Amino acid sequence: MSAVHTVNSPEKGPQPILRKPEGEDGSSIWELVRECKPLDENSMYCNLIQCDHFGDTCVVAELDDEVVGWVSGHVVPNEPDTVFVWQVAVSEKARGLGLGTRMLSTLLSRDVCEDVSKLKTTITKDNDASWALFRRFAEKRGGTLSSEAHFTTDDHFDGKHSTEHMVTIRFAEPLKRAA
Ligand SMILES: CC(C)(COP(=O)(O)OP(=O)(O)OC[C@H]1O[C@@H](n2cnc3c(N)ncnc32)[C@H](O)[C@@H]1OP(=O)(O)O)[C@@H](O)C(=O)NCCC(=O)NCCS
Repeated sequence: MSAVHTVNSPEKGPQPILRKPEGEDGSSIWELVRECKPLDENSMYCNLIQCDHFGDTCVVAELDDEVVGWVSGHVVPNEPDTVFVWQVAVSEKARGLGLGTRMLSTLLSRDVCEDVSKLKTTITKDNDASWALFRRFAEKRGGTLSSEAHFTTDDHFDGKHSTEHMVTIRFAEPLKRAA
């Protein structure tokens, strides 16, 4: 399988190249996340470690040498059937074109997700774009979506952050093998 995914679309113009991140991408990813409210900002060092150690489960979207999309994630320790998506970020200029969906599909098509039949992520109640992205992804890929409060304002965030709802999408079989 190629590590780089390109799509040519005459209607939509040049499409971003999707690939695994490298250490040198860390600072650009950090900038993108800062621009993509309401995402939590992590340290630049955190993004570097994601690129360096978790690159197999992260996706960078690049257009004209600029990072315009990012998915960070990991296979959950001791749960080889579950990939956790930490953040999805798409630059404002590239939104609404299916890039978030493409990045999720790319992640699930990777060898590292061979045994993955569940995608988990957390979303705050007010993030309509994020709910739409994951709901539509579940529909398009034949998964069933469930959610419940997980990291709560009072018990986990000391009142400083909205409750994060754990969203679980279950697929009948691993998408990598179904492809
Ligand atoms: C959420 C985000 C990643 C979506 O990226 P995107 O590339 O625009 O998403 P897609 O084009 O793949 O859209 C997927 C679906 O969600 C819908 N959608 C996207 N943004 C939406 C919005 N603001 N409101 C309602 N629906 C929305 C799309 O219409 C599409 O559904 P469709 O297939 O029926 O048309 C992007 O808006 C973003 O970076 N937001 C800021 C950061 C954030 O909140 N990230 C998510 C939390 S992890």
